[in-house]
Formats: sequence, C-alpha cells, structure tokens
Amino acid sequence: MARHLVTSALPYINGIKHLGNMVGSMLPADVYSRYLRQRGHDVLYICATDEHGTPAELAAKEAGLSVAAFCAQAHEAQKAVYDGFELAFDHFGRSSSAQNVEITQHFARRLYENGFIEERAIRQVYSPVDGRFLPDRYVEGTCPHCGYDRARGDQCENCTRVLDPTDLIGPRSAISGSTDLEVRETTHLFLLQSKLQPEVEEWIAGVGADWPHLSTSIARKWLTEGLNDRAITRDLDWGVPVPADTWPELAAEGKVFYVWFDAPVAYIAATKEWADAASDGAVRDWKSWWYEADDTVRYTQFMAKDNVPFHTVMFPATELGVREPWKKVDVVKGFNWLTYYGGKFSTSQKRGVFTDAALEILPGDYWRYFLIAHAPESDDSSFTWEHFATTVNKDLADTLGNFVNRVLSFSRKRFGDEVPAGRAAGDAEARLGEEIARLLAEYEEQMEALQFRRAAAALRALWSAGNAYLGEKLPWVEVRTDPDGAALTLRTAMNLIHLYAVVSEPFVPATAAAMRGAFALADDTATWVTPGRARSLDSVPAGTPFTVPPVLFAKVTEQDLESWRERFGAPVT
Ligand code: 2FM
Ligand code: ZN
Repeated sequence: MARHLVTSALPYINGIKHLGNMVGSMLPADVYSRYLRQRGHDVLYICATDEHGTPAELAAKEAGLSVAAFCAQAHEAQKAVYDGFELAFDHFGRSSSAQNVEITQHFARRLYENGFIEERAIRQVYSPVDGRFLPDRYVEGTCPHCGYDRARGDQCENCTRVLDPTDLIGPRSAISGSTDLEVRETTHLFLLQSKLQPEVEEWIAGVGADWPHLSTSIARKWLTEGLNDRAITRDLDWGVPVPADTWPELAAEGKVFYVWFDAPVAYIAATKEWADAASDGAVRDWKSWWYEADDTVRYTQFMAKDNVPFHTVMFPATELGVREPWKKVDVVKGFNWLTYYGGKFSTSQKRGVFTDAALEILPGDYWRYFLIAHAPESDDSSFTWEHFATTVNKDLADTLGNFVNRVLSFSRKRFGDEVPAGRAAGDAEARLGEEIARLLAEYEEQMEALQFRRAAAALRALWSAGNAYLGEKLPWVEVRTDPDGAALTLRTAMNLIHLYAVVSEPFVPATAAAMRGAFALADDTATWVTPGRARSLDSVPAGTPFTVPPVLFAKVTEQDLESWRERFGAPVT
C-alpha cells in the first residue's frame, strides 16, 4: 500500500468556474483519488481556493465587499458547487489561511538566508489620488497596437498583446479613473530563479522521465528559454505580508507576496489546515506527507496547461532553494483546453457552461462522466450540447442505466424480489468472465497511467459487455422454455451490476451508490474486484433480496437540447 498525495490547481476565488476549469484539474484529481482509495491506498486529496492577487481585489470591489468578506463568501459558493460534483476532497482550504501566511513567510526567509532572494529597485506606476502604487492590471488605457481604449497594463484583451503599463496611451487608474499618474521608484523582492536553474534541470532530468509528454515538453521549453529572476512582491492590501522581522521597510510599506509565490505553498498549508481541523482528538500528521516524506509518498498534481510551468519549474525551484526536505511533485498531469464549440469559454461574455449552471440542469454524475470521457488530454476538445446529449443518451442512459433497470425489473417480474438461483454457470458465463477480467485489467492500467479517456473507454466497454451478454442469452425469450437458464442469466447480470457499482464509483459515485444499494447484501465491504471475482461473477449469491432503483439516467430530449442551446448561447448548428 502506498501513500498518495493528490492536489489539483487551486481555483481562483474571483468567480464560479466553468466546465473547462473542472475537467482540467479538480475532476480528474477526484476520479484518481477515488480510484486509489478504492484500491486500498492511503490517499490525501487537498485543494483550496486561491484567494490573493488583483483578480480577488477587483472582484471584491465589483461586489461592493471588503476583500476578506468577498473571499469568505466566494469560498463557500465554490465549495457548494464542488459538493454538487461530489468532489471528495480530504480538505478544501483557503490560501488566505493563517497556516499559509506562516509557511509562505518561512519559505521566503529561508530563500533569503540561502541567497536566493534580493531587494531590487524598480520603476512602477504610482497614483497620488489613490495613494498607492498600481499593479499592472490596475492601469488602463489605450493599446498602442490596436487602439482598444480599455487595455490593461499587463495585456490588451482585444489584440492579446502583452503590455507594460508604461506602453499605454492615456493611462488611468482602474480604481479611481485618475489620469494623474507618475512613475516612481520602489523596492521589491526578487527570487533569483536564474541561480536555481541548474538544480531544477537536474531534478527534472530524474523525476520528469515519468511525466506525461505535455508536462515535460512545457517544462523543457521554459528551461530552454532560461529562468528569469522574478519580482515576488506586490503593492496590494490583500495577500501574505512580507515578514517584518526580515524586511522591516518593505513590511512597513505594506508589501505582500505575489499570488503565484504563495499559491503553491498553499498546497502544504491546506494540508496543515486539514490537520488542524481534526476533531475528536484524532491526530493528523500533515508533516509526514510533506516534510522528509519517505519513499512511500507519491505526489501527483493535476492542472491545465497554463499552470504547468509554475508547477514543473518555478515552484520546484522555490522548494529547492529553501534547502529543506519538502516533498516535490512526482507526476504532473496537465490538460489541454476544453473549448465551447471550438471557441473560448468566456466569463465576461457569458459564453459556455459554468459549473453552478451545469448542476442546475443535471446532477453531477452526468457531467463527471461526460467530461472525463472526453477530457482534453492529448489535444484540446470541444464541448457541444449535441455531443453531450449523444454521450448521455448512449453511454449513460442506454448502455449502463437501461441494463440495470432491464435486468432488475425483469427478474423481479419473473422470479420475485430475490436474486434467482438457476443452474450453474456455463460456457457463456465463462467467456463473459474472461472478457470482464480482461477489460477490468485494461481499466486499471489506464487509470494508473492517468489516461482518463482510455480508462473511461474501458469502463464503457465493461458496461457494453453486459449488454452483449444479454443480447446473446435473451433471458426474456429463454424464460419461456428454460426458466433455470433465464435465472442463471439474470443472476449473472445482477453480479455485473454489483461489479459496475464497485468499479464505476470513481466516475459516477452517486449512481454507483444507487446500484450497490439495490442489493441487500449482508456484508458488502468490497472496494474493488479481484481478477478471480471478475471471472466468477458470484459476489451476489442467489437469495439476496434486491430492489429496483429509479431510472439511473434520464435521456436528453430534443426539447432539453433546444432550451440549453438557447440558455447557454450555443451557435446554431
Ligand atoms: O490558474 C489558476 O486558476 C490558479 N489559481 C492556479 C493556482 S495553482 C497553485 F499553485 F496554487
Ligand atoms: Zn491591443
């Protein structure tokens, strides 16, 4: 048994996430964690809201709340959605926690003592009216390239060019609108990543061998271009304060750490939050997962591709520079983009499907299965309502749901409320058992390789094998001439339902519970299926009472499709 530490990229606090965010980080991390737990591993799945930085400040301003109040509220709102998606975090923390302040400051002090942080004076935009330096995003003006008049100091949203605030024509403060801006000199802390580059390269040469291609190719590209020293402080009211014991002047000026400096540290801090939240005297040893962790801890991270450089190169550089034995990632699983009809999901233009709205129309399991089955793994993938409807109707309603319902209702009608006995298993059952054992091995192999689409395909194949078996045996015909044979077929099919309940849990946990709950087994503790059990299909013995659960998956109708297309602004196809 191994110990598995799993984290998914911390979602920004500034708004409810869309389906693309979900499929590229939290959902696969949850599927993987559930799978590992079922296989008997000791799993710790940690996530948190990423609460610092300008987006949080701006969103709070728009909501008319203090940043602290906004973040507290937005954290709960995100948490409620993740509960709806059945994300089984061991802890869902907050990067604004006291634990994160403590550990981030500790990291900064150690980096400084080890010669990897220095103070540098830079020139930055200052707004006398606002009484503060303005971070790049807080300066607006006209783009020198395309003339767009609401370009931000870091980037023009219209032509996507990266900008410096001093490039803008007619710059103004995004806070007050004041055009009375000056450029002043100010001191910031810089992380000397260039000094750490050789160590990062050496580290990646070892551990990166096991990473999926997307992660290593992004990491290599960054290393080839060379790591630059980066400013890791900002002039903001909200964030982890620069510690006054080490940098009294900067602390007095109210400087805080840059959000990307403290966010990855929050993986560690949220684990400490988890330990600190233990009740009933339970002892949770957070440090054993992170500090001097032994070889049994395997750490897997999940994220979309834009986050990969921070996790493969920059945060490891930080950890290396701290010169303490903090656990570094073993595998980075990156994802491409999920698009909405080939275009970008856009919060501002209200294009695409947000996770709260998704749950308003259908329960979490529908989304979980669809998203993972079509996860943007080797390439970007496109969400369309038509594709969603076909997947739900074919895979979930017809292949899985209908199988379960057909078998249980027919058996109850012909043989009553207990699993019928029938005769002993024959050739067809032996062949079925072989096929199930083979597909289950395939499913396990793909899960362990973090190949989610392929794992979903293997799971779907397991469901289809049940349908093929029914098609071969035709118990509703068999029952007329050979009731014992029909009873065997139904008992075997019911064993498949139980097996599906166990192995489908990572993908569709609520449905899996409903399937398992159909059988009143005396001692149902199975968390996985051995190859032997897959072959014999006899976990549910004759005589076991059962009930027929309500229809597991409703079909998507033409009417549903029409109303969703309209509500979510889908292009007419
Ligand atoms: O891109 C994002 O959504 C970031 N909030 C991810 C942060 S991951 C981490 F390092 F905390
Ligand atoms: Zn522009």
